Amino acid sequence: MQAEQRTALVTGGSGGLGEAIARALHDVGHTVLVVHSPGNASIGAWLEAQTDEGYNFIAYGADVADHASCQELAGLIQADGYHIDILVNNAGITRDATFRKLSYADWDAVLRVNLDSVFNVTRLFIDGMLERGWGRIVNISSINGSKGQFGQTNYSAAKAGMHGFTKALALEVARKGVTVNTVSPGYLDTKMVTSMAEDVVKQVVAGIPIGRLGQPGEIAALVAFIASESAGFMTGSNVSMNGGQHMY
Ligand code: CAA
Repeated sequence: MQAEQRTALVTGGSGGLGEAIARALHDVGHTVLVVHSPGNASIGAWLEAQTDEGYNFIAYGADVADHASCQELAGLIQADGYHIDILVNNAGITRDATFRKLSYADWDAVLRVNLDSVFNVTRLFIDGMLERGWGRIVNISSINGSKGQFGQTNYSAAKAGMHGFTKALALEVARKGVTVNTVSPGYLDTKMVTSMAEDVVKQVVAGIPIGRLGQPGEIAALVAFIASESAGFMTGSNVSMNGGQHMY
């Protein structure tokens, strides 16, 4: 069955996982808007490369950690005539350090970009979804939000917070045709992971029963399913895909 065409917004949509999610949603016929950070100088080249491969995305620069910037973003999207049916809160950063070395700046940046952004962006699009009686919100968390990770008190706290948000909002909107779910990827073959020290990456892979990093496309296929009509009975879930590294 051809998927009903919707409009999706993917934050961090030009990054490793975000790009794969944007493509997977485009592949099933949705209009896909991507949000990138305001200072992203390579976005023009990225968009061109996507177009060359048949992916026509609409890009907006906004600081998802900043409420006012997100309000501006919503205004631009509305002025361009779009309403958002599918929201993927994917934007995220790491600032890894053991807790005793963790600065307030690195705590704050990770909480703001990974968790405050979920409030900032979702708050602006939830009313429209409820009014239209249909919506899908997918929050991209992490294996480390459930299992914890040495060197990631900030990131683990933010990612765990995302799933708390998912569950509470899922309850509030369940009867209005809007679902809210969390996806918790394990370690993927993206810059976020491969930019760690080589020995750390090796150690991580050694702890993954499947024996390799995940591919962004594998997570993206899961997100596309959760965003589909077929997933209407699924809400408040935390779906993990991590090569067997953490089972719960
Ligand atoms: N478990 C237990 N002890 C560990 C450890 C671990 N996993 N890793 C390091 N240590 C120990 C070291 O052996 C060392 O011990 P000694 O002092 O007794 O020799 C000590 O911790 C080192 O402590 P430091 O504070 O000096 O640590 P560091 O500055 O060298 O490095 C770190 C700290 C940067 C956090 C580094 O450990 C690291 O990169 N860890 C991996 C973090 C990680 O997995 N990040 C995921 C990023 S990708 C992502 O987040 C995507 C996703 O969603 C999965």
